[in-house]
Amino acid sequence: MGHSARHRRFQPVTMPADERPVTILLTGAAGIIGAMIRPRLLARGHRLRCLDVTAVQAQPGEESITGSVTDPEVAADAVEGADVVVHLAAHRDEQTWEATLDLNVTGTRTVLEAARAAGVRRVLLGGSLHAVGMLTVAQAAEDPEPAPHPDTYYGWSKAAMESLGRLYADRFGMTVVTARLGTVKEEPPDARALTTWLSPDDMVRLIEAVATTEATGGHVVWGFSQNTHSPLRLDAGRAIGFTPVDDAAVFADRFGTAVGKQDHKRGLGPDELLAGPFASDERRPVGKPAPAKQRAGHHSMPKK
Ligand SMILES: NC(=O)c1ccc[n+]([C@@H]2O[C@H](COP(=O)([O-])OP(=O)(O)OC[C@H]3O[C@@H](n4cnc5c(N)ncnc54)[C@H](O)[C@@H]3O)[C@@H](O)[C@H]2O)c1
Repeated sequence: MGHSARHRRFQPVTMPADERPVTILLTGAAGIIGAMIRPRLLARGHRLRCLDVTAVQAQPGEESITGSVTDPEVAADAVEGADVVVHLAAHRDEQTWEATLDLNVTGTRTVLEAARAAGVRRVLLGGSLHAVGMLTVAQAAEDPEPAPHPDTYYGWSKAAMESLGRLYADRFGMTVVTARLGTVKEEPPDARALTTWLSPDDMVRLIEAVATTEATGGHVVWGFSQNTHSPLRLDAGRAIGFTPVDDAAVFADRFGTAVGKQDHKRGLGPDELLAGPFASDERRPVGKPAPAKQRAGHHSMPKK
């Protein structure tokens, strides 16, 4: 795999000598997370099969498949020969019930079923903290794997994903990890993300953990970096070999204190909901597609 100058800045992740490059099926590869992790995974020598309804411009080391994760034939073709599936294709924000079921639930089932049928035994499902968005930070910190408390149909679909993953793991002997992803961005975009940030390098570490773990069965882990301003317990991730190393706190000086709120320089306070704007009837009415300008990734507090 080429280690071009463009890729060299993505080198902080180090692969242990006993780990080998793997073939990864990445669904939703044309999306925001896909764009951040594809160059990093390629730079680490992995081969990528990129599946998306939007055509992906394949780079060296990549294959592109244009099609839908809800189509069993497309999914069967895409999983063939993959070592690990990373399933990211989804509506990433609130939608109607029907749209949520079709893509986020049926799409996940179609991908898991294709993996099972093809004998692909390792799957990482892109879940969300919105599966537990109605918990306060303090409640979520009580348990390494708090039970689902979704904040929207979107969050519910991610909770459904977690239990569907467990069905496939328990019944069919697969390793299925659902990650409750936080705010996946190059850098934390706002004070809330001081708690919820997952760096793209840590996302790569998570994928490599799933690709190499000896743990079998179903797992639900936080997709968070090692953030100083998060009390959430990362034990479940460690149990599958996921050790995040980045810390949003190095960016903390960028964010001022929001008027009338707790000290946001320290991220979310213990009594604040993990959901953020997703718990708001005005900003995220349940079952109503979020207006484009409010969509996840666009609700940042202004930077100082
Ligand atoms: N970005 C974040 O901070 C974040 C946080 C929590 C969870 N997540 C989850 O991670 C995943 C990826 O998020 P993202 O931010 O990259 O979202 P995104 O919307 O940018 O990407 C999703 C991709 O899925 C593709 N897609 C849509 N329908 C499809 C279909 N039927 N078949 C195949 N591909 C299809 C889209 O074209 C898009 O490229 C989602 O499941 C999202 O819920 C993201």
